[in-house]
Parts: sequence; structure tokens; C-alpha cells
Amino acid sequence: MGKILVVDDEPKSVKLIRMRFEESGHTVVAAADFVEASKKLEVELFDVLITDVRLPDRSGIELVKLAKTQQPAVSAVVITAYGTIRDAVKAMTYGAAEYIQKPFELEALGMLVERLLESARIRAEHSYLIDQFLEGASEVLLVGRSAAMQKVRELVDKVAPTHSNILIQGESGTGKELVALAIHSRSVSNTQPLIKVNCPGIPSSLFESELFGHMKGSFTGAYESRKGKFELAGKGDILLDEISEIPLELQSKLLRVLEDRHFTRIGGSTDVPVEARIIAATNKDLKKLVETGRFRDDLYYRLNVFPIHLSPLRIRKEDIAEIAFHLLPRIARSCGLVADGITEAAVSAILHYDWPGNVRELRNVLERGLVLAGGGVVDLDHLPVEIQEGCNSEGMESGKFVEKVDGYKKELLLEALREVNWRKKDAARNLGLTQRAFSHYVQKYDLDNYRNT
Ligand SMILES: Nc1ncnc2c1ncn2[C@@H]1O[C@H](COP(=O)(O)OP(=O)(O)OP(=O)(O)O)[C@@H](O)[C@H]1O
Ligand SMILES: [Mg+2]
Repeated sequence: MGKILVVDDEPKSVKLIRMRFEESGHTVVAAADFVEASKKLEVELFDVLITDVRLPDRSGIELVKLAKTQQPAVSAVVITAYGTIRDAVKAMTYGAAEYIQKPFELEALGMLVERLLESARIRAEHSYLIDQFLEGASEVLLVGRSAAMQKVRELVDKVAPTHSNILIQGESGTGKELVALAIHSRSVSNTQPLIKVNCPGIPSSLFESELFGHMKGSFTGAYESRKGKFELAGKGDILLDEISEIPLELQSKLLRVLEDRHFTRIGGSTDVPVEARIIAATNKDLKKLVETGRFRDDLYYRLNVFPIHLSPLRIRKEDIAEIAFHLLPRIARSCGLVADGITEAAVSAILHYDWPGNVRELRNVLERGLVLAGGGVVDLDHLPVEIQEGCNSEGMESGKFVEKVDGYKKELLLEALREVNWRKKDAARNLGLTQRAFSHYVQKYDLDNYRNT
């Protein structure tokens, strides 16, 4: 529901407009002239301004100009009488969204304003929605057959329709943001926004203003009034990412707001309720931070109502291949390539690797591999060397063994080259290797140096 400022010196028309909008649940504030309206604009945030072009003290156009500089998100509608259309057009250049000519049907104004409110809502939602994961799919998929992943999917389904605070913990790249998105997309409030707050990205001096908003002039640099992320989230979800990075004194402020369930914008006077559900995420062990006094225990308990833990990929290796198969076509689409799968040898290598960067690293490796392959099938030699020698990273192979295998490989390649008189294309074909793989080995073993031996 929107907040509407109606500016008109004619009490009768204000009354009609007020009735129309209050009936459909909006809040209407009225002002009779420019001065009164500008005072309201200083202390309140509005979604829509409806003003007559002719006001007793100054012009409505000036008011539009003032409103748009103080509250750029406001949608302004000017009401013109015959003969003032030119002024209305001028108002549009100051950022008015629409004008409507007197006499008008009340319902015409009603529909106009509803449309403006709706598009403002969609704008807010879209500018904040983390759509990088959606990748054109309407459902957010949490892939993985491991018991751990099944449990996560169960928890997500259970918690999604509720209003409990959620704490998602897991190493970097394990899918915390994806889980938050999955919860949001499955919840009743999925027509409401999901607002992401990257806690370490906000300088601590701006933290309160970012979260709770501010009124113009409330501090140096507050050139306009703005809603904070809590308010933008509405009845939707707010993701406090990397929550461990909030400094202690701001942790207390956040706690107070979560306890009171309302706040005021900096420099503002109205109470704004907290209606959004809080989803916090961290790659740190918050409990440990609590024990060492770096995170408030009361805030921890308030956030940790419904914990979800994401295990590292290395202890749920049964998920690796499935996630890779799931990601490949999506990555291909985003790079404008076509993916035809991944060879057995490459799968075996990715299964043996430890994935310190978890699914994010897997994703990056696949993307790089697919680009190296120029699309099509990702093979062993499209993977980074440390993954090609994946078994090694688990300490299953000794350095001596690797050295020996390398020696054999080199001999095999040299033999193949000599056989065809150093025509690399033919040597590659005879060995059943792609050109790219072959050149990779030529470089790796410095084979050109053996040409005359
Ligand atoms: N189970 C899964 N199924 C499909 N894709 C996944 C899964 N887990 C993670 N991903 C993908 O892996 C990438 C990293 O996930 P995400 O950004 O959610 O991790 P994160 O835990 O938030 O990482 P960080 O701690 O670095 O912020 C994303 O591209 C995500 O889509
Ligand atoms: Mg993340």
C-alpha cells in the first residue's frame, strides 16, 4: 500500500481524492499549499505526490521539482485546468510522471495512481532481486543427492512459508545465497522483494542509513530522503549476508530493531514497522565468534531461530557430478556456447579434487573448461592442471609416482610425434587427443625442444 501526498487548496476535491485512496488501503496526507506540502516532504516519505498546478502561494510545478530532488523515488502527478497544460508539460521535464486534466473522473486518477504504485513496487523489487541465479528458470534448484543436501531441501521447504528468522552457515561458495533465494522463491511472500545487504560492503558510518533510511539533511551528505533496506523489503525477505562482519556497536542497534520490530529513519519522526523476515548468512562459525566476544550472543540467538548448515563439497562428493551436469548447460547459455557434456576422465578428476572454494570454484572451473573447449565436450585437458592431477591433491599419489607417469606420458607423446614426422595434428589424432589437449602437453613437457633428438 502506498503513501500519497495530495496538495490542493480546494477542500472538497481533497476529500474526494482522500476517500478514493483510503478506501483501497492507501495512506493519504493532505496539504493546502506549497509551504505546507514542503514541510510534509521534509519529515515524511511519499510514494506518490498529487498536486494541482495552481497553488495559492506558489506553483505546483515548483513543488514537483522540490519533491523530486528531495525524494527521487516519488511519482508525481499534476492536475491541470484548461489553459495550464503547458505548465503540466513543464512539470514532466522536472520529473512528473503524469498529468491529468480537469475535470477528471475520480477513477481515472485512481487507476493512474495504482499503476504508478505498482510500477514503483516492481522497480524496487527488480533493482534488488538477486537474479543472477535465476538464469531464466522460474524455480531455484538446489541440486545434490547427498543426505546433507536432501536435508537442506527439506529444511528449505519447511521454513519457506513461515516467518522465522533463519541463519544459513557454510563455507564460502557452498550455496548460502542460493539457499536464501530458494527460501524466498518458495515462500508466500515471493511477490514481495528479496533485498540483499552485503554487510562488509557498507561503511559503518552509513550502516544505519542503509538499513533504516534517512530524511534529507539529517547528516552531511544526506541530500535526499531515502528508504532503507528494511523498508524496501516490505513484507518480503531481507538477506543480511556475511553478518559476522557487522561491528559490535552496530550489532546492538540491529538487535534493538529486531526486538522492537520497528525503527525510525535517521532524522525522521515516524515509526516504521519491521515486517520483513530476516535471513542471515555467514561463512564464519558464529558460535565461536560469540565465545570470543566478537559477536553479540543475544543477536546470535535472535538470528539463529532456524539454522541451516551447508556442508563443504569435499564431504559430499556424491553431489559433485550431479551439480556439474546441472551447471554446464546453464553456464554454456550464459557464455553463448553449447555444452555437450563432460568426459569420463574429466568427471573422475573433478571427483578427486578437494574443492576448497566449493560449488563456486566448481562453477568457475567448468566455465573456464567450457570456454577452453570452445563449447562441446569438456575434457580432462580443459581443466586446471591441479585438478587434472586431482588424485594427487588428496595425497593418494606420491610425487615419485606422478613424476614417473609424467615421464611415460612424455615418451608416449614424443613417440607419436616422431612417427608422423612431427606433424602435430596427426600425432594428436593418432593418440585420440584434441588439438587443444595436444598443444597443452607440448607446452607442458616442452616437447618442441626434443624435435632434433
Ligand atoms: N546445490 C546447488 N545446486 C546448484 N547450484 C549450486 C548449489 N550450491 C551452489 N550452487 C551455485 O554455486 C555458486 C555459489 O553459490 P552461492 O553464491 O550461493 O554461495 P555462498 O555460500 O553464498 O558463497 P560466498 O560465501 O562466497 O558468498 C552459485 O553459482 C550457485 O548457483
Ligand atoms: Mg554469498
